[in-house]
Amino acid sequence: MATIPAPRPDGLLSLKALQAMIRERSVLAAIEVFHQGLGNIFQLALPGFNAVMLVGPEAARFVLVTSRDDVRWRSEGDPVTHLLRDGVLVIDGDYHDRIRNLMNPSLHRQMLTQYAEAMVACTDQICGTWKSGNTYDMLVEMRKIALLILVQTLFKVDFHPQLERLWQSILKTLAYISPGLWMLWGSIPRPGYQKALTDMDDYLYQVIDIRRQDDHREDLLGALIDAGLDNGVIRDQLLTMLIAGHDTSTALLSWAFYLLGKHPDALQRARAEVQQVIGNGLPGIEHAHQLPYLGQVIDEALRMYPPIHLGSRIAARDLEFDGRQIKAGTRVVYSIYLTHHMKTYWPSPHEFQPERFAVGIKHEPYTFLPFGGGPRNCIGAAFSQVEAKLVLARLLQKFDFDLQINRAYAYMGATLEPRPGVPMKVQLRQTT
Ligand code: HEM
Repeated sequence: MATIPAPRPDGLLSLKALQAMIRERSVLAAIEVFHQGLGNIFQLALPGFNAVMLVGPEAARFVLVTSRDDVRWRSEGDPVTHLLRDGVLVIDGDYHDRIRNLMNPSLHRQMLTQYAEAMVACTDQICGTWKSGNTYDMLVEMRKIALLILVQTLFKVDFHPQLERLWQSILKTLAYISPGLWMLWGSIPRPGYQKALTDMDDYLYQVIDIRRQDDHREDLLGALIDAGLDNGVIRDQLLTMLIAGHDTSTALLSWAFYLLGKHPDALQRARAEVQQVIGNGLPGIEHAHQLPYLGQVIDEALRMYPPIHLGSRIAARDLEFDGRQIKAGTRVVYSIYLTHHMKTYWPSPHEFQPERFAVGIKHEPYTFLPFGGGPRNCIGAAFSQVEAKLVLARLLQKFDFDLQINRAYAYMGATLEPRPGVPMKVQLRQTT
């Protein structure tokens, strides 16, 4: 069987990759050069990270569907596993399916009607503190909004009083699971994080205790309590949801603002649509399906900068893909980012063209996978799409936005973030 191609560290391809990385200030640019040079399956050996990279719709289908039972999500040495313990994101088999089934109803489309009001109210709570004429970093502001929404809707608790107190702990928790220099000396233990992680745990255990006292249990936390799970396993799910459910939305919303800021014509068109459909009233769930252009902008942001840009697995047995053997125990990564930038499916992939997603245009299956795919796709996909529309619609109704930087770069944190941020000058439009 043919061997899996790998770049030679001293070869021309590696040099080109290094140049791209410096130019674009992003490791992703280097990986894109490797993909162009080596094809849809290649070996990537970075300091502390060794994986077989798979790209394209066949590869995605292979990892997400056909080989689902031959790969594991859980990787014992990873900080994500250390942090989330038995969270639904890092467990496998029947245990995973049981926990996921418990949470599914609270994220079902029908529940979104109830959540829509909270999504707009949390947006108002944060943008109500903005002063017209001031500049705010959308990466920071969207994180505040996403945190309030997540905790309010799924845990039925107001997070606002904790926002300042736990802010640094949340950022540290995210840094704990982000790629970084620590990869050079191994993952665990990592000093400097303990206080942040303990603060998060203390808060979540408190919330569980409070919610055990009430008997209104329609939400996600209520469902976990009613299922009879112990506090430890519930904490694992809450932390998973808190991290997976807010950091992704933060990235999506801040990239959407960046792209709208770079493309004032698109911003105007999105706002005109919002005004025509909602006017000055409050956005509601009924509007989420009536804003096609805003939906296109969101999809294009997800394509260009997928917040989760890869899915990582461990081969549970020897696998074969495209005539190459992948040995049991190997880390297998399907790249959402590279698939979203394949010229075959996405002409001029680095250009912002929301029209790619215009109503009626069909895309090849597994070429657009911001929420993954198969039975373990994103449990919060519907939630976050409605959230993104309502938050953006509300903010476009209320403010004019003026981007204050020329360029943001795709930084690989826990999600793919715009760095150094998305500073925007805001101007109040009207009082609604
Ligand atoms: C823009 C927003 C979001 C994006 C782009 C996103 C993306 C993804 C992707 C790509 C996966 C699959 C990863 C893989 O195949 O390895 C995933 C899984 C997951 N997401 Fe999301 N997500 C978003 C929002 C949310 C929200 C709001 C929640 C919770 C409320 C959430 C909770 C989860 C969980 C728990 C999983 C694991 C599911 C399982 O393994 O069964 N996500 N997400």
